Formats: sequence, C-alpha cells, structure tokens
Amino acid sequence: MLFRRLGYTILLAGTLLAAPASAQLRMLSNTPQAPDPLAAPSIPDPLVEAPPLRLSLMQGDQDKLGDDKFQPEIGQAGKDVIWVPTPDSLVKAMLTVADVKPTDFVVDLGSGDGRIAIAAARDFGARSQGVEFNPDMVALARRNAQKAGVANKVTFLQGDIFETDFTDATVVTMYLLPSLNLKLRDTLLKMKPGTRIVSHAFTMGEWEPDRTITTDDASGYFWLVPANVSGRWAFEVGNERFATELGQQFQMLSVARGGPLRDGRVKGTGVHFTRANGQELEGVVRGDQMVGRGWVATRIRTGG
Ligand SMILES: C[S@@+](CC[C@H](N)C(=O)[O-])C[C@H]1O[C@@H](n2cnc3c(N)ncnc32)[C@H](O)[C@@H]1O
Repeated sequence: MLFRRLGYTILLAGTLLAAPASAQLRMLSNTPQAPDPLAAPSIPDPLVEAPPLRLSLMQGDQDKLGDDKFQPEIGQAGKDVIWVPTPDSLVKAMLTVADVKPTDFVVDLGSGDGRIAIAAARDFGARSQGVEFNPDMVALARRNAQKAGVANKVTFLQGDIFETDFTDATVVTMYLLPSLNLKLRDTLLKMKPGTRIVSHAFTMGEWEPDRTITTDDASGYFWLVPANVSGRWAFEVGNERFATELGQQFQMLSVARGGPLRDGRVKGTGVHFTRANGQELEGVVRGDQMVGRGWVATRIRTGG
C-alpha cells in the first residue's frame, strides 16, 4: 500500500475548534486537566452546528507536515484558533466549487502551511495570498511555495486576519471557527458582489450556504457574496409597469404579500424572481439597475 496508515487518527469535533485556543490545546492533550476553579461555567455554544469531523492522517499527509527547518504539530496553538490542516481532497474540492480561475486572486485566512494558497496557484493558475499569524508557519509556507514552483504567484503575509485588508480577493477560503466566521461576516458581505467564499467545516450563522461540499474526510460550505437589492424598485416587464419594495437578508429577498412578486433570491450578481402570475424573471444586478431578458428594474429608493 502506497500510504501506510499511521494509526494517528484525530477525532476532531466541532466543539474542539469552537473552543478558545487554550481550551483546544487542553482538549488535544492526553494529560487530564484538574478543573480550573476560576474558569467560567461552560455554556454550550449554539453556533456549533458541524458534526464531528474525522480526519485520518495517512503517511503521505504526515510527510508533508513541515520540512527540515520547521515541523509544525497538528493542534499547535494559534492566535485565535489552533492549526489543523485541511485534507488535500477537500482543498481541491473547495477550490473547484469556487471555480477558481487564472484571473482570480485567492486569499486563505489563517493559511497554516500554505496548502490552500499554494494549490490555488499550482493547480488552478490563480494568484493567491495566505494570511497567517505564526511567523514559523509563514516561513514554512513560503518554502513550500518555492518547492511547488509557485513562489511568483503566491505571497504569505504574517499578520492578524482581523487587521489585514483582504477585500480585493475574488475568492476567500478559511478553516477557522464558527465564532471567527461570524466576526468576519460583515466584512465578507461588504465585498464585491459575486465574491466567492469557502469555509472548511464551519458555517456563517444565518447566512445560509449556497452549496455544501463533502469529501470522504471532511466537509465545507460555499457562499457567493450577494448584491444588495434592498429598497423600492420600479419594474418594467414587457408593457407592464409596477413598483415594489424588496427586503433582503443575505441572499433571501422578502416581497410584500399580495404584491406583484411572489418571491425572489439573489445569487451573487444574479437575481431571480417569481411574479404573482407565475412568470419567472432572471436577471443581473448592476448597481441600481436589474436587467433581464424582456425586463428591467430601476431602484427608486435604497433599503435600510
Ligand atoms: C485550522 S488552521 C487552517 C490552516 C489552513 N487554512 C488549512 O486549511 O490547512 C487555522 C490557522 O489559522 C491561524 N490563525 C489563528 N488565528 C489567526 C489570526 N488571528 N490571524 C492569522 N492567522 C491566524 C493558525 O495559526 C492556523 O495556522
């Protein structure tokens, strides 16, 4: 067998990654810890919706963990979350779902050994960047990029993802925690409509994923940053004219009951409505205009 199972299987529950870094380390440690009398009572985290993840490390994977200068340890502390690498199969699936192309700029938030940013450049031809707090991991990722022959397309920035401007990315990848995803959510939602976001294991609260990704080892979620279409719009559909109010929560649109539209949904810069008479309207959002085949709408007032 090419890859010999190491017998090193990590059962990584969502609760593990959802805990503070110090607690994650304790959970990973084999040494039982005495209860901390000063610790706050543990409250179950309602945001932990991911099922337990089973990451099986094979010999081949283990070989890739580090080089002669630095060998990171799975579960080592990180600023806001420990380091656990995304399995290669999910890295590929995440970049495939995001439809990464040579014209893309992919940013991996908390880039670890650089595997996602490197794969984006090596296998999909994109430019990419990793942002990582741990300087040893940044140095390792740079060496890994060099070895992969993509040092000219990949950069690694040593810094805090919450203090780094990544808003020029066309694709954002992450493997963080539910709470960190939520902390990033407003910034992500303000990015250019159509920006693609992929998260290993963790969701974005009530912002429903547009797709889910499953491999043998792990799972992930995919979102398109929705265009903002909230407000009052004047529609021209063929010879008909009507005005209507659109509410928006993430990609879901709310329309007045009994009004001219039955429902609507935004998908990146795309928009889809069903009219009360059953007619389907597909179009694209261009700022204060929506345009489709045989119809156009103009925003009269921006929503709150
Ligand atoms: C679960 S690992 C994911 C690594 C990589 N993205 C992957 O999927 O293989 C999370 C990484 O985020 C880094 N990290 C934690 N908090 C960070 C922060 N505030 N800014 C930058 N990096 C951070 C950790 O050091 C760790 O390498």
